[in-house]
Amino acid sequence: MSVRNRVEIMHGVNLDQLGRRDPTHYGPAKLTELELEISSAADALGLKTRFFQTNHEGEFVEHLHQLEGFADAIVLNPGAWTHYSYAIRDALELTGLPAVEVHLSDVDAREPWRRVSVIRELCIGRVAGKGADGYREALELIREELAR
Ligand code: DQA
Repeated sequence: MSVRNRVEIMHGVNLDQLGRRDPTHYGPAKLTELELEISSAADALGLKTRFFQTNHEGEFVEHLHQLEGFADAIVLNPGAWTHYSYAIRDALELTGLPAVEVHLSDVDAREPWRRVSVIRELCIGRVAGKGADGYREALELIREELAR
């Protein structure tokens, strides 16, 4: 059987604005810098990454639709969509792929509406409040899952 090591890293709405957003929640890094860190963490774990970001919910959904045959797992930070997008929830379910939900900030310690995640039950794990390190942790969970 071929090696399963392809991880799609998906960022949603407003995450292209990292670097301009409140650094006390999101850190100082821009998305491109964050992606470099994720890439090197993935390399160290023997995982291959592909990156996607959009501010358009339908594009996020369609990207999930098109993953079949191109990804073995997903690490996703849908931003605010996490808290209410049943469209993204349903598209994630459709992929049938193992997924880990990541948030740079500690969503459970912020406004009550950020504590809701409509994708949580579909994910094998969730990492929040650990900044860029959270993605490393997510990739470790994915690696364990893909090795099973
Ligand atoms: C976020 C948390 C969300 O509540 C927020 O809307 C974001 C980013 C995070 O990474 O901490 O845009 O997903």
